[in-house]
Amino acid sequence: MTARNQTTSHLLIILLLLVHFTQVAFSQTTAIQNSYNRPSTSLNGKWQTIVDPYENGFYNYRYEPFENQTNPSRSAFFMNAKAKDEADLIEYNFDESQTLDVPGDWNTQDDKLYYYEGTVWYKRSFDYSKQEENNRVFVHFEAVNYDADVYFNGTKIGKHIGGFTPFHFEITDLLRETDNFLVVKVDNKRKKEAIPTLNTDWWNYGGITRSVKLIETPATYISDYFIQLDPSDDKSIKGSIVLNGNLRATQTMRLIIPELKIEETLKVNENGVASFEIKSDKIQYWSLEHPKLYTVSILAGDDQITDQIGFRTIKTDGADLLLNGKSIFLKGISIHEESPINDGRGHSVEDARQLLTWAQDLGCNYVRLAHYPHNAHMVRLADQMGILVWEENPVYWTIDWKNPATYANAKNQLTELIHRDKNRASVIIWSMANETPQSDARNTFLSNLATHTRNLDPTRLISAALEQKDYQGNPNVRTIDDAFAEIVDILSFNQYIGWYDGGIEKCNRITWNITHDKPVIISEFGAGAKYGLRGSKTARWTEEYQDHLYQETLKMIDKIDQLRGVSPWILVDFRSPRRVLPQIQDDWNRKGLISEKGERKLAFETLRKYYEGK
Ligand code: GCU
Repeated sequence: MTARNQTTSHLLIILLLLVHFTQVAFSQTTAIQNSYNRPSTSLNGKWQTIVDPYENGFYNYRYEPFENQTNPSRSAFFMNAKAKDEADLIEYNFDESQTLDVPGDWNTQDDKLYYYEGTVWYKRSFDYSKQEENNRVFVHFEAVNYDADVYFNGTKIGKHIGGFTPFHFEITDLLRETDNFLVVKVDNKRKKEAIPTLNTDWWNYGGITRSVKLIETPATYISDYFIQLDPSDDKSIKGSIVLNGNLRATQTMRLIIPELKIEETLKVNENGVASFEIKSDKIQYWSLEHPKLYTVSILAGDDQITDQIGFRTIKTDGADLLLNGKSIFLKGISIHEESPINDGRGHSVEDARQLLTWAQDLGCNYVRLAHYPHNAHMVRLADQMGILVWEENPVYWTIDWKNPATYANAKNQLTELIHRDKNRASVIIWSMANETPQSDARNTFLSNLATHTRNLDPTRLISAALEQKDYQGNPNVRTIDDAFAEIVDILSFNQYIGWYDGGIEKCNRITWNITHDKPVIISEFGAGAKYGLRGSKTARWTEEYQDHLYQETLKMIDKIDQLRGVSPWILVDFRSPRRVLPQIQDDWNRKGLISEKGERKLAFETLRKYYEGK
């Protein structure tokens, strides 16, 4: 090889390493803690978009990813190229393309996209001047469903998998004062190995479904904190605070809770972490009647953040469920994340307020957010309204249990959920899964998730909708039949006697024999009813049938001694591709107590009266 060729090959190697480390340097980092209260610049609004079912903007005609090229072709959509002159060939143009609202799913913004499952490219241009020269800037996504490949000014800054949890990428070194362009490739194709997998009973809404914003921080910033009551001592506030940046620059930080006259100076260790345990006998516990939230401030060098945090304990004692040491019954309802105001995925504080207000009208003190993490407004409002919350990882039905990448995906999404909501008093239960068929691989998968969850957060309870069967072969006695029952803190299961399982009269002869000494939640029961369809209580799809099933089911479950909660399926009718019965379903699962137009069905009042009497 000649000297010239040697130099060229060395240069090429250096360039490849540079590209690699640039990508690694900008790889995904867990979203900043409490982005909710961080000053930010919103990127919400109309984004230019290109629907790309063949992913022509990602692969060349040989199906090689443009992003793997040393100098990506201008044909790659993430280059946001424009024809230089009349002779130049560029076969796309974001600025002349259709726009879609962000946040929002694409399915309900354009009839052509109603059933679309595939790739849509989003582009947003903006100018940006940093407030301080040494500050850092992150682009923060509350959620994108499902795969997000993110590019900034033509450079790949990261990839995120999972449709319901926040993530961010640092753009400090790529940012310029004007003409920045942020490009996101969103792909919501369902996959066997994904979380959730191919089959779900909800609509696969694709898009940048929650808010996008720019967050500017000092060079060293408060990236994470966990501040809750010590589970073993309700007079002790325990936790840790994590810094990111030049960790030698900030030796101490301050934790201030003015109402408790707490002002602690904390020492930062060599990893940028300060741990603490602060005693106080003045804590007013967060409760259903008094959802007390304390203003908590953290000051670290040039950074500070404030949060509103409630302090409470949630425990089990045998079959009892104790909030702040007192027995409670979870008067709940299950909820999907669909807007009760507009159409499609919910994402706004108005959506959240409407759903939680309907739950309170029902007499609920608890909601089961099915089957995936909902937007942060739901848990922030639940904190303020005194509503307890079950949050769930989308490990739903027939997951690819033996696939290590599937487990890593499930673990990452659960980690991101816990990371986001671990300081929310309203959240008391992390649900590992829903209605998953038993196998050794599934039991290992779920047990590992439970272990990981308890390591991340020892202050909350673990559950999952478990499997059940006839007790000792007796068709009139039911029991839980699930190895995961040994692991969870709360036994939950979905039962549909009278809808999928026999007629409503079966409720009269079924009893339940739960052999584990743990609290029981009936996480689902219900029946479909088309609002306004009236008739006999034995005629499916009438409001009377649904109401009769509620009346008979509530009598049946009241016989379960360990029953500590119920979250009937479901608050509002919701879209599902599985529900195609003409004039009755028409793409809607009709088990809501309220129609998608906000109309209350007969059974709403039956459940409300039941809770009133609890
Ligand atoms: C199942 C499942 C729900 C589903 C419901 C139904 O229990 O958990 O996601 O929508 O039944 O069939 O309506």
